[in-house]
Amino acid sequence: MTQDELKKQVAQSALEYIKGVSIVGVGTGSTVNFFIEMLADFKADIEAAVSSSDATTQRLKNIGIPVLELNSVGDIEVYIDGADEVDPRKKLIKGGGGALTREKIIAAASKKFVCIVDDSKCVDVLGKFPLPVEVIPMARSYVAREMVKLGGQPIWREDYYTDNGCEILDVHNLDIINPMELERTINDITGVVTVGLFSHRDADIVLIGNGDKVDIMR
Ligand code: 5RP
Repeated sequence: MTQDELKKQVAQSALEYIKGVSIVGVGTGSTVNFFIEMLADFKADIEAAVSSSDATTQRLKNIGIPVLELNSVGDIEVYIDGADEVDPRKKLIKGGGGALTREKIIAAASKKFVCIVDDSKCVDVLGKFPLPVEVIPMARSYVAREMVKLGGQPIWREDYYTDNGCEILDVHNLDIINPMELERTINDITGVVTVGLFSHRDADIVLIGNGDKVDIMR
C-alpha cells in the first residue's frame, strides 16, 4: 500500500468512533482530510464539528457540515486528528501542518482523543521529526536561542504564519527521552504559544494503519 492508501485505511477505521456522536472535533492534515471526505457519507450522525484550522473549516463546510466555535459548545465527545510522530506511550509530536495550538486546545477540551496515523509515524523515541514550536513573532529569535540551550537546532518556518498570526520554529536534533518534562520546559519559555509535544494531554487511542490491518494502541 502507498502511504496515502494507509492514511485512507486508518481514516476509515476512525468512523467507528464517531457513531452516535453529535459534535466531533476535527484535526488538520492529509490523514484527517481523508477522514473529512469520508464524513460526507456519515454526516447524518453528526450535527456539527469543531475545527482545528481554517483549512479544515473550509473542507467541513464544503461537505455541508456546520462548524461551531469551541466557546459555544461544552466538552467535545470525540476528537479525531493525525500526528507526525507517535511513541509507544501514545505521546505525540504534532504541528507539521502548523495547526498545533488549536489542535492542543481541542484535544484538551475533548473527552476522547483518537489519533490516526499510518505506521511510518511510529517511533520508539520522539524527536526525529523536527518539533514545531509556535511563537509570538517578536519572540522568535529569543525562543530560538533558548532552544539551542536545550540542545536543539531551531529552523524558522520562513514566510509562514499560523491561523493565529504567529510564527513557527521547527526544532531539529532533539532526543526526547522525557516528553512531559520537555513539554513543560518549552511551554514555560516566554514568547512560546504552544509546543507541538502532546504528552500531558496525549492520545487516548491511537489507530495505526499498516496495510494488513489497523492496530489499536490504548
Ligand atoms: C497538523 C498536524 C497533523 O496532524 C500532522 O502534521 C500529521 O499530518 P498528516 O496527516 O498530513 O501526516 O499536527 O498541525
